[in-house]
Amino acid sequence: MKLVAKTMHGLEDLLVDELTQIGATNIQKATRAVEFEGDKKVLYRANYELRTAIRILVPFYNFRARHENHFYKKVMEFDWSEVMNPDRTFAINAAVRSKYFTHSKYISLKAKDAIVDQFRNRTGIRPSIDVKNPDIRLNLHIQEDQCSIALDSSGDSLHRRGYRLNTGVAPINEVLAAGMIKLSGWDGSTPFFDPMCGSGTIPIEAAMLVKNIPAQVLRERFAFHSWKDFDKAIWDEVVEEAKAKIKDVEVPIFAFDKDPQARHYTRKNAMLVGVDDFIDLDRKDFFQIEPPAERGLIIMNPPYDERMPDEDIAAFYKEIGDHLKQTFAGWTAWMISSNKDALKSVGLRPSKKTTLYNGKLECKFQKFEMFAGKRIDHLIEKGKE
Ligand SMILES: C[S@@+](CC[C@H](N)C(=O)[O-])C[C@H]1O[C@@H](n2cnc3c(N)ncnc32)[C@H](O)[C@@H]1O
Repeated sequence: MKLVAKTMHGLEDLLVDELTQIGATNIQKATRAVEFEGDKKVLYRANYELRTAIRILVPFYNFRARHENHFYKKVMEFDWSEVMNPDRTFAINAAVRSKYFTHSKYISLKAKDAIVDQFRNRTGIRPSIDVKNPDIRLNLHIQEDQCSIALDSSGDSLHRRGYRLNTGVAPINEVLAAGMIKLSGWDGSTPFFDPMCGSGTIPIEAAMLVKNIPAQVLRERFAFHSWKDFDKAIWDEVVEEAKAKIKDVEVPIFAFDKDPQARHYTRKNAMLVGVDDFIDLDRKDFFQIEPPAERGLIIMNPPYDERMPDEDIAAFYKEIGDHLKQTFAGWTAWMISSNKDALKSVGLRPSKKTTLYNGKLECKFQKFEMFAGKRIDHLIEKGKE
């Protein structure tokens, strides 16, 4: 069957790799999405195991339309009893980029009317809408006059891992955190450190990644559980096989924050996934600390707060750069921030940078290498290798 995994800008290549590992075939990178093929087992694995996917769609009906009446007629032409029963509830989400249809809410109402009208005409029963907890979630995608209707197999967005019940201000999206760790290339062979961990998203995702804990280990229900063709035996097999691959490894992961609440939140969240023993938590001010290990990888998400006066946030980022340079020689640090001006104040030359989005906020994710000794000596050494 043809499937589509939705993701965030900049994470498409990582998602291609993840899909290859779960046995997907005909994998094609798209914009904020990856198209692929697979059987039911691949579909269930995609939902349960992928760290960089937001939802998994099963497209089943494509047509062209340029006018709302034509659109309604085309939706009516499909035999909706193939995918749902009239006694089930449903909801439609729409993503529309089209000069023919400008209001996504309006066009999804048209689709809903067509489906309800077809069931009422044929059976006398009207399926009900339930936007919060529907039995069937449909995803309508319109690009100019190309309309595609898909079944959403995930339900709740897959960034909701279920561990983040306790959060401070500005927690980072879980899919983005997992993507950042994968982009950094961290493989568990060196210590990992988030010195401004907030509610612990980044270190918890790092622990889950290195221990191979399935991304959705805490979720019990996915939208595909309500489908007519749900196969419980395959689902049980997917869960059992993924849990059997959890690794019992010991890698130092440090998570600090100056806010006492952050330590409390991170511990509680980490406990839910069972990685609390694995993360070394402390309440510490970054500017007062020595490195917790000789070498390692830092991923940090410092405050980018627009409410702080510009000169204060610039000084804060400069202090981060100075402290990294003076104290963390031999470490590699990655920093994400939506405050691009503040990032310039870090005063270290990024050796890599990429654009990512935290929700709607455009961010830069930058790599800084803190060489022991002079940078030029390091470059000469590297050239000799
Ligand atoms: C944007 S939040 C991090 C959110 C986190 N990634 C999450 O997902 O919850 C920034 C964090 O930096 C912390 N922080 C600010 N200044 C700090 C400092 N000097 N030392 C350590 N932590 C600091 C704040 O307490 C806050 O928790």
